Amino acid sequence: MGKCLVTGGAGFIGSHVAQELIDSGRQAVILDDLSGGCADNVPAGAVFIKGSILDTALVGKIFAEHGIEYVFHLAAYAAEGLSHFIKKFNYENNLIGSANLINASVNYGVKCFVFTSSIAVYGENQLPMTEDLVPLPEDPYGIAKLAVEQDLKASKRMFGLDYVIFRPHNVYGERQNIGDRYRNVAGIFMNQILLGAPLTIFGDGTQTRAFTYIKDVSPLIAASAFMPDVYNEAFNIGADRHSTVNELARHVREAMSAPDHPVSHLPERKEVKHAFSSHDKLNKAFGYQPKYSLAQGIKAMAEWAKTSGSRAGGSFDNIEIRKNLPPSWAK
Ligand SMILES: NC(=O)c1ccc[n+]([C@@H]2O[C@H](COP(=O)([O-])OP(=O)(O)OC[C@H]3O[C@@H](n4cnc5c(N)ncnc54)[C@H](O)[C@@H]3O)[C@@H](O)[C@H]2O)c1
Repeated sequence: MGKCLVTGGAGFIGSHVAQELIDSGRQAVILDDLSGGCADNVPAGAVFIKGSILDTALVGKIFAEHGIEYVFHLAAYAAEGLSHFIKKFNYENNLIGSANLINASVNYGVKCFVFTSSIAVYGENQLPMTEDLVPLPEDPYGIAKLAVEQDLKASKRMFGLDYVIFRPHNVYGERQNIGDRYRNVAGIFMNQILLGAPLTIFGDGTQTRAFTYIKDVSPLIAASAFMPDVYNEAFNIGADRHSTVNELARHVREAMSAPDHPVSHLPERKEVKHAFSSHDKLNKAFGYQPKYSLAQGIKAMAEWAKTSGSRAGGSFDNIEIRKNLPPSWAK
């Protein structure tokens, strides 16, 4: 069987991973503080505990009481662009929170710790990004992810804790928080259409990303903990084909039945211009090829967004640095 802890399981990717685990007959305990996710995302059959990965006592209690054997650590504040302006919060939540879970995993003899890192660890690097490149993260979000990766390696060497690291990128799909104004451009576009507001694009929209449908990601993350052959490795995961943000906007407008919806270009943001990675290592290890085209994935997400409706997007309250904050985020 194997009792699984899914942190961030009320969020987007975590809820799909928890669903996969339950569908394959495993027990899933979800720990989420609902800072980004919502209770409606928790799949039926999961045990839901509302709380933070920063609550050391709670984390220890969960491991002790539920006999956790596998950890899927997806909880994070993942607004990469904003992370420059909220360094302290970013490192506390994403790095110290992860250390809490790694400590408990060592102390309670966890069999495998699955971690969702990010291609943000590569920074502006050679393309396509491959796992053997020297990581050069350019923002606090990527730096925290890389630090956790390195801590997992150290914990394997020191304590024998097995791990699997995934480096996803630009994942979209049903249950994503489309009200989040700081991340997930496909969801932002859908919410803007539902609200009757113009689509906002930073710069000229020629920046490229390999937008990835959730169902090409969650089954592999869920399966990995039970595949000792993939232990103690890092894998890029996601779509191979990269598209410009302008192309994405076209797909979203078509799928939302709003082909002529207006677009507004905002000043360019300091961000990596092109980011896409190779998935050869993952494809070989998992025997998997992405199944969903951008048009198919966006259509499925748009159908869900049309029925679930627009979401109100709050602002992040505790900005730590205002210098160079994009004006649209300063409001
Ligand atoms: N979506 C992507 O494209 C993408 C790409 C690369 C990596 N990732 C990583 O995948 C993971 C999941 O991302 P997502 O897109 O599903 O985001 P998400 O915001 O939907 O999910 C993250 C969840 O973590 C929870 N959370 C945050 N801080 C917490 C804390 N201190 N204690 C408990 N719960 C907390 C939030 O409430 C949320 O439900 C994250 O680690 C993210 O960094 C995502």
